[in-house]
Amino acid sequence: METQSRIPENLKLAVLERIKPSQAERERLLIAQDELVAKVKEAAEQLDVPDVFAKVVGSAARGTWLSGTHDIDIFISFPEETAREDLETQGMAIARDIAKGAEHAEDRHAEHPYLNIRFKGFDVDLVPCFRVASACRIKSAVDRTPFHNEFVKTRIEGLEDDVLLMKQFMRGAGVYGSELRTQGFSGYLTELLVIHYGSFESAVQAARSWKPGKKIDLMKHAEIEHEEPLVMVDPTDPKRNVAAALSLDKFCMFIDHCREFLKNPDLKSFFPEPPSPVGDAEILEKMEMRGSGQLAVVFKTPDVVEDVLYPQLYKTEQAAASLLEGHGFSVIKTGVWAGRQETVIMLELISNTLPNVKKHIGPPVWVPGHAEQFKAKYENTEDVFAGYIEDGKYVFEILRKYPLAAELLKEQLSSHSLGKHIQKSINRGVEVLENAEVRSLKDPGFRVFLRNWL
Ligand code: UTP
Ligand code: MN
Repeated sequence: METQSRIPENLKLAVLERIKPSQAERERLLIAQDELVAKVKEAAEQLDVPDVFAKVVGSAARGTWLSGTHDIDIFISFPEETAREDLETQGMAIARDIAKGAEHAEDRHAEHPYLNIRFKGFDVDLVPCFRVASACRIKSAVDRTPFHNEFVKTRIEGLEDDVLLMKQFMRGAGVYGSELRTQGFSGYLTELLVIHYGSFESAVQAARSWKPGKKIDLMKHAEIEHEEPLVMVDPTDPKRNVAAALSLDKFCMFIDHCREFLKNPDLKSFFPEPPSPVGDAEILEKMEMRGSGQLAVVFKTPDVVEDVLYPQLYKTEQAAASLLEGHGFSVIKTGVWAGRQETVIMLELISNTLPNVKKHIGPPVWVPGHAEQFKAKYENTEDVFAGYIEDGKYVFEILRKYPLAAELLKEQLSSHSLGKHIQKSINRGVEVLENAEVRSLKDPGFRVFLRNWL
């Protein structure tokens, strides 16, 4: 057993100094919160909606938010027996009333509608929910959140700094956030890990030897088996895995980050140097050195929220790779980058071109019917270079339909299932850039992505 502490105290203090909200920041947040809670009450009274009140949830309510990340989650709690329709219309009416005093407001949609507003510099979600008796009796996915809040609030006292350290550490690893774009660790999951292991340090020590299938069940009440790499049974709902959104790669990136950090604990694990955009000359040089084929599929970014966009992007990335593989190309790796204007699917291949000749292997000569049909089909075709028997099978050397990967993508990608919004965007126009042609993409965000890529 490793008992000796390996993380220097002054390192933790140096990190906390940068991420822990100041007293003034805390006060501003508390004032905004109180004001919002009062406004919900007023609005409910004015609109004559009885028995409705606000609950502050999320990291702002638990003292586990990182300085500078100003989001406040306000849940507008309706009695359980409220009809869904009433919850939506009355909930949104209350939210809109509050939005009158806001700098900005925007309708959003999860399972049901909610309102995102900018209020006194804070990013506020106003979310109507049902006040159900327990988290396993939820009527809508968001109804669990108040239970999470109750569970964490009492147990997190004294561990707030450890949660902050862990959140920043995960940011440093690029694994913080459970959105579909990141597929990493949610705030709630991070808090449960710290509660379970007792400190930031113990959690990091333990995670070094995690394996897929790792299971944590704080309440010892799991009711079903889960397949995900990490299973954190929700203490408020025995059927749910809090880590359901965590991908295998993000799980492993975290393990790796913990190992590297314990070997050499330093500030960089929390605050990695942001990579700089790669310049034209370096792109050319790196690509020549790699000697592979590079393809960039470029189209206009669909105007949808990230949780809708990214699953479709990942699907498109997969579709492009399997289209290429299916036509004889060898894919080294794939990646996606989405900016405000343009989206790029990057593909690196062993080569962007294949020879015109393609070896087409048929059935063994002795297979009844089939073998003769195969031979008859190719024997008298124009685009055949040669035909012979090899290892007992008919073989024809035929003309390849797509010797150029870029042509294949341009012509065939849109006929694959890519997700509704990407399909639409690609149908409107897609460009496929090859190798150093990607230099025509100047967006600094893309150039940062490209530096990591190369
Ligand atoms: P947030 O995403 O705002 O997380 O969701 P957070 O805990 O406040 O953490 P940070 O500091 O902002 O990153 C607010 C609440 O919604 C629920 C959790 O209860 C969370 O505390 N939630 C959110 C989930 O249960 N699962 C999710 O994937 C996201
Ligand atoms: Mn939050």
